[in-house]
Amino acid sequence: MPVSMRQAMIGAVLAMGMLVSAQAQTQAQAQAPAADAAAAKGPPAGFVAPELPAPDESNAVRARTQPGNNAPVWRAVRESGNQPGYTSLPGVEMGVLIQPFVQYPGSSYTTAGEAWRQVRNNWIIPYGGSLILIVALAIALFYWRRGPMGGHMADTGRRIERFTALERAVHWSVAIAFVILAVSGIVMAFGKFFLLPVMGATLFGWLSYALKTVHNFAGPLFAVALVILIITFFRDNMPRAGDTIWLKKGGGFLSGEEVPSGRFNAGEKIVFWGGVIVLGVVVVASGLVLDKLVPGFGDTRGQMQIAHIVHGVASALMMAMFLGHIYMGTIGMRGAYQAMRTGYVDEAWAQEHHALWYDDIRAGRVPAQRSGGSGPTGTLATAPRGHA
Ligand code: HEM
Repeated sequence: MPVSMRQAMIGAVLAMGMLVSAQAQTQAQAQAPAADAAAAKGPPAGFVAPELPAPDESNAVRARTQPGNNAPVWRAVRESGNQPGYTSLPGVEMGVLIQPFVQYPGSSYTTAGEAWRQVRNNWIIPYGGSLILIVALAIALFYWRRGPMGGHMADTGRRIERFTALERAVHWSVAIAFVILAVSGIVMAFGKFFLLPVMGATLFGWLSYALKTVHNFAGPLFAVALVILIITFFRDNMPRAGDTIWLKKGGGFLSGEEVPSGRFNAGEKIVFWGGVIVLGVVVVASGLVLDKLVPGFGDTRGQMQIAHIVHGVASALMMAMFLGHIYMGTIGMRGAYQAMRTGYVDEAWAQEHHALWYDDIRAGRVPAQRSGGSGPTGTLATAPRGHA
C-alpha cells in the first residue's frame, strides 16, 4: 500500500477514534456512576504488564536498522511468560497476544501456533500433496495402459432414464462447488511452490486472497448441496446382494471382466459412504468452523488450529478419492458422462455396467422412466434382450 494512502487511513482511523472517544466522553459524563464502576474494574487483580523493550532496542529503532524485524516486542511478550494481558474488549482470548509457551513431546519449548505451523508445513502439505500427485499419476498410468472401459456392446437405441433432472442438478451443483473449492484450496496450500515463482509475489498475493474469499463463500453452498445430494442418492447406495462379489473381484478393474451390480456398484458405494458422507461431513464441519459459522466453535486459536488440521487432512483424502470418481465419470468409462449430462443411458450400457439394475428394470421392479414424460427417444427398456 502506498505510504500516503496508509497515512491517510491511519489518519482516518485516528479521527474516528477521537470522534468515538469524544462521544464516549459525553456519554460518560451523563453516566458517571457507571463509567466510574467500569474504570474501577480495570485489569484483573494480580495483572502485571509485560516489560517494554529497552528504548535502544525499541521497534522504532529496529524498523530503521532492520525493517520488518519487530523481534524485541515479541521477545518481551515471550519473556512475560504465559500471563494473559488485559483488554476491555469483549471476546474469548482477547487478552492473549500469542498462545502460551508449552513443551510438546519430542519438540522444543514452543507455542501451539508454532506447533500447528510445523504440522501444516512438515506433514499436511508434503504428504497431502504427494498423495494427490501419486493418485493422479496412478490414474494416468491406468488410462495409458488400459484406456477407457466399456463400450463392448452395440447401442440398441432404446433409452433408460438413469438420473432425473433433480438428481443431475444436485450432482452438478456439488461437483461445480467441489471443483471451485479444490482449485482454490490447492492454490492456497500449494500455490507458493508452483505459482509464486511464475507470477511473482504481488500477483500471487492478489490471486490467493481472491481465491480464499471464493473458497469461504463456496464452502457453505457446497455444504447445503452436499446434504441434498446425500438424501437424493442415499437409497440406491444401500448395500445389496452382489456388492461383496463385486468387491472380491475388485470390480473387474484388472481382469477387464464386468461384475454385475445394481444401480450403483460397490465402488461407487464406497465413494458415497467414505468420500461423500464421512469425508464430506468432516470437511464441511471443519470448514464451517474455520468460516466461524458454528456457534461455540472457532472462538479460540486452539480450536481454529485443530479445525484447520482436520480440514487439511480430510480434504486431501477427499480430493484423492474424487480424482478417481472424476476420472471414471469422464474419460475412464464410455457413456458415464453422458448419463449424468443427459440423464439417459442406452439399454446396452445398463446391461453391460449395471446388469442387476437392468434386470430390475426388465422385471418391472424399477421404472425405466423415473421422471414424468418420455425420454429423448420416447421408448422404454422393456424389450427383451439376449441377456440371461
Ligand atoms: C467434475 C467433477 C465430477 C464429475 C465429472 C462427476 C461425474 C459423475 C458421473 C458421470 C456420474 C454417474 C455415474 C454412474 O452413472 O454410475 C456421477 C455420479 C455421482 N457423483 Fe459425481 N462427478 C463429479 C464430482 C462429484 C462430487 C464432487 C461428488 C460428491 C462430493 C459427486 C458425487 C456423485 C454421486 C453421489 C453420484 C451417484 C453415484 C453414487 O452414489 O456413487 N460427484 N458423477
